This record gives sequence, structure tokens and C-alpha cells, in this order.
Amino acid sequence: MKTHVVSAETGGKYIEEAVRWLVEGEIVALPTETVYGLAADALNPVACARIFEAKERPLYDPLIVHLPTTDWLASLCTFPLLAQRLIETFWPGPLTLVLPRTPMVPDIVTAGQDTVAVRISAHPVFQKVVQRLERPLAAPSANRFGRISPTRAVHVLSELNGRIPLVVDGGPCLHGIESTIVSLRDGHLFLHRNGPITREELEAFSPVQDSSETRIVPGSLGSHYAPKTPCQFWDGTPPPSGIRAGLLAWRASGEDFAVVVYLSRRRDLREAAARLYASLRRLDEYGVELILVERLPKQGGLWAAIMERLTKATLASRKCFFSYGQTPPLKYPSSGRRS
Ligand code: TXA
Ligand code: MG
Repeated sequence: MKTHVVSAETGGKYIEEAVRWLVEGEIVALPTETVYGLAADALNPVACARIFEAKERPLYDPLIVHLPTTDWLASLCTFPLLAQRLIETFWPGPLTLVLPRTPMVPDIVTAGQDTVAVRISAHPVFQKVVQRLERPLAAPSANRFGRISPTRAVHVLSELNGRIPLVVDGGPCLHGIESTIVSLRDGHLFLHRNGPITREELEAFSPVQDSSETRIVPGSLGSHYAPKTPCQFWDGTPPPSGIRAGLLAWRASGEDFAVVVYLSRRRDLREAAARLYASLRRLDEYGVELILVERLPKQGGLWAAIMERLTKATLASRKCFFSYGQTPPLKYPSSGRRS
């Protein structure tokens, strides 16, 4: 299959093209304000199956449903008062709510669970497509399973070229990290994934509890958010000799590294989040053998969301690299790549 890229700057042409594919049960990559999503008609189980196929995603990992308008909520889920208050404040935007589902939601979307994850994207391109389609769109991040989420159309191409018919290029994503995911049960708010809506913002509505239930958010598995290159937190010492290492830096000068990529020279957490995945991809593409990651000093706001993803990136690659600080194996696994 040939993958066509259409710019969102071509007037409304991209809307017609995207909607045409979606009506036919095909899958289309669309920009959202968080990361690029791989969208299919959420009420068409066969179309949703194509998402799993293209991403090589296991069927136990449920999809987020993106609504055209809040009018769809009542058909797809039940929502308590607390959910309504969160929706009024944060939608459209990067907050995903996990709520009890109705039978209208196909099982493939929820991975057979009794809940469905819903949000309304604030991205004008996504909104135009979903509103023209007038049906909800299931859309996970538009990367192959276990890889870094795409924040630009070229990233989508590098993940899914030849597997999907269309990518709508809406430029770089504003937030650069995936939405915050919360569930509401028995009047309590559980935080499943840190994201652009911070814990502090949520706590204004209800006390927030960390979800210990990794079962319902397989996205919390360490195998997510992995660059191809082995990746470890930096302990501040020079990288192992003979190894070409890159540094994902916060404030260090990084003299001993083959390449240094700064998350934000202004040390601004919003900018750092927006550049996080693109920076990891740049280091991957630079062809270093090891990516070392400087820890960000603990603070509020987006710090938790950024560190959560950096930690997962390092955990995911631990198995394919010697423990940093120890002697490297004789034959260095220079690729450590997974497809
Ligand atoms: O910002 C985002 O959330 C992006 C954009 C495209 O909207 N989407 C995204 O989707 O990150 P995905 O599939 O890559 O991550 C969604 C996470 C998955 O880890 C999935 O397990 C979890 O949401 N999820 C989906 N439905 C769920 C449910 N019913 N209960 C618990 N977790 C759920
Ligand atoms: Mg994802």
C-alpha cells in the first residue's frame, strides 16, 4: 500500500480525503494536540482491527475513543458528576477519562473490558475530520507497538509507511506527550498516566490516587516509549570509553559525548515535553550506540509526565544493553534494535 501525505494547509481537501478513507473502514494518521493518532471509525470493529494490524499491537491493549462532540458521551459510557466537571474544564484537550462503557462500544476497542477511554481532541485538524465524519474515532498513537509516539508527520511515516493509506500533516504537536489518563470509580479519581493535565490541576477537583491497576493500562508497561538505541539514565560520569554515546541533556555541557540534544535550553517544562520524543528520535537517528539521559531536577507541573516517559524509555532498553557503569560485553550490541 502506498502511503500518501496530505498537508492540512491545503484548505479543506485533507478533510474530504481523510473522511473518504475512514468511511471505507480504512485507517488514517491525524495530528492531535498531544501526539499523532492512528484513527479508525470506533464503531466499525473491522476498521479498528486494522489499527492493531498496522501497529502490531496486541489485542489486549484497548484504544482511546475520540468523540466529535460531548453529545456522544451518553451513547458510549456513563459519567458521574465528577467526570462532567472535569470535562467542562479540560475538554477539548489532553485528558482521557476511563468510564463504564455501554454495549455500543465494540469489544475490540475496549479489549473486552467493562470500561472505555474517551476524550475530545483540541486539535483543529482532528476536530474537523471527526466532526465531518460525525462518528467517534478510535485512535492510539501512530507508532508501531512499543515505540516512541510520533509528534510530526515524518515520524509517522518512519513508523507506518506502506501500512496505512494516508497521513494528514498538521505540523508538530503542541504538547508532544500523550494525554493524561484518569479513571473514576466510586467517586475517586485514579491517575493512570501522567500527561499535560497535571496532578495538581486534577487535585483541584478531587484527591488523586495513583492507580496500582496496571492491568487496565497496558500503556504503563515498561516496553513502551522505547528508542531503538539502548538508553540509560546518566550518572554524571563520562560515558564508557570506546562507546559513542549521545546525551539527552537538561543542563549539563556534555563534553564527552558524540552528540548532545537539549530538551529545552530555557529549561522550560512545556518546551521539554513538546520536544521529548523528537529529541529521542534525533539521538536514535544520529547513530550513537548508547543514549544517556540526564535526570530533570524534581519539580511540579509536567516534571512527572516527562520523567515517567524517560524512566520507561530506560527500563525498556535495559535488557538489550549492559548495565551502565559496568564493563561492556566483548561484542557490543550496537543496534539493540527491535522492529
Ligand atoms: O494523547 C493520547 O492519548 C494519544 C492521542 C492520539 O489521543 N493516544 C494515545 O493512545 O496515547 P495509546 O493507545 O497510545 O495510549 C492509550 C492508553 C493505552 O495504554 C491503553 O492501554 C489505555 O490508554 N486505555 C485505553 N482504553 C482503556 C481502558 N478502557 N481502560 C484503561 N486504559 C485504557
Ligand atoms: Mg501509544
